[in-house]
Amino acid sequence: MFPTKIYVKRRQQLQKKIQSGLILLLGNEESSMNYTDNHYHFRQDSNFLYFLGLDQAGLAGIIDIDNDKTIIFGNELTIDDIVWTGPQPALTDLAAQVGVKDVQPKNAIAKYIKKARRSGQTIHFLPPYRPENKIKLSEWLGIQVKGLCSIVSIPLVKAVVSLASIKGPEEIKEMEKAVNVSRDMHVAAMKYAKPGMTEAEVTGKVHGIAVSSGGNLSYPIILTVNGQTLHNHYHGNILKEGQLLLGDFGAETAMHYAGDITRTFPVSKKFTAQQKEIYQIVLDANVQCIKASKAGALYKDIHLMAARIKTEGLKALGIMKGDTEAAVKAGAHALFFPHGLGHMIGLDVHDMEDLGEDLVGYSDTVKRSSQFGLRSLRLGKVLETGNVITVEPGLYFIPELIDRWQGEKKFSEFIHYKKLKAYRNFGGIRIEDNVLITAKKQRILGEPIPKTIKEVEEIRRKAY
Ligand code: GLY
Ligand code: MN
Ligand code: MN
Repeated sequence: MFPTKIYVKRRQQLQKKIQSGLILLLGNEESSMNYTDNHYHFRQDSNFLYFLGLDQAGLAGIIDIDNDKTIIFGNELTIDDIVWTGPQPALTDLAAQVGVKDVQPKNAIAKYIKKARRSGQTIHFLPPYRPENKIKLSEWLGIQVKGLCSIVSIPLVKAVVSLASIKGPEEIKEMEKAVNVSRDMHVAAMKYAKPGMTEAEVTGKVHGIAVSSGGNLSYPIILTVNGQTLHNHYHGNILKEGQLLLGDFGAETAMHYAGDITRTFPVSKKFTAQQKEIYQIVLDANVQCIKASKAGALYKDIHLMAARIKTEGLKALGIMKGDTEAAVKAGAHALFFPHGLGHMIGLDVHDMEDLGEDLVGYSDTVKRSSQFGLRSLRLGKVLETGNVITVEPGLYFIPELIDRWQGEKKFSEFIHYKKLKAYRNFGGIRIEDNVLITAKKQRILGEPIPKTIKEVEEIRRKAY
């Protein structure tokens, strides 16, 4: 936990922005895998962690602005619980550590909310994403689950986004830690992977590093020789000489701040000439886009900058043709770059995505595009000092998409389909870093992770 004053200040800032009514913050319950008592690893709600800091299941918080009260609702352990869980700190002591003196039993919240509703108080709550919390809200607020989204508090969402988007020094330190564990995972993969192993063997190795650091994974591991499939969680392939291995994985710290790193390296000790050419284009996009990421820059422009760099690079290889600006404007490059350049990162790997991507990544003046590729950009708005973002350009050769577009003769003025035959089984390359935005520049978080062709080949040479 951070010092008490951090949580107190965050709640004060939140109250100042909302001004009246009652703010309801729901912690998460345990979530069952295959029967009630067999749980997934517990993960607290990030908004609850941000304002109330407690990492236990089954809690809820109320900030009653009108009556100047902050209450944590939850049950102290009974002796029966302790038989199974062992002794745990008292909830009253934990609550005191985040500056909350008023702790009430879990079942008292329904009555509290009922009274607030009767007296006409506005109840502000965030979009629920877990079924348990949807059901609770439905019961407490007397509305069907499907109606909840229409009464979510947009002012509360906007207030949380404005506060949590700007990371404090204590958060940057945690994020740096998360990236360094993520770095250890990637370096381990580069040193460990060998032809003949399965993707699962490498996956297990890096997963263990996240857990042994005291934290966990910040999202399910992507580690695949089929990097052209963007969210590929299959780990059953055997690594073969000549293939590329794309690893997109990271750790979250014990305090749940996330790292999100991608590296792509050859299963062989060296890249092939073809792999080098594509890798260098992605690397150029990564380096130049990171350099351009500063306070005041529009992230959508940086995404388009990545698109231009890739289009130019693919033109030099004869894969694309025509005017670069026109190709990017039309979205032709999206055949090879169908995702966004990056997103905010913090307590969530896609930070605050539960609050709504557009409310986090866009603004009144910057709206999301509907164009294929650009529409997947999660962050389009102006960058601010204190934002932490990912910069993750990639190039992919997706046979099914190539066939579809070729069949439609789509963008044939910009794409040399014949040339693509030689890249059909290429796979994909992505290079992702986590970047802190400061006034005039930016800083890549964590210790350097092998990234240039020379650095990657150097570590692979020593691997076997
Ligand atoms: N790890 C998922 C992403 O990079 O957005
Ligand atoms: Mn990633
Ligand atoms: Mn990412």
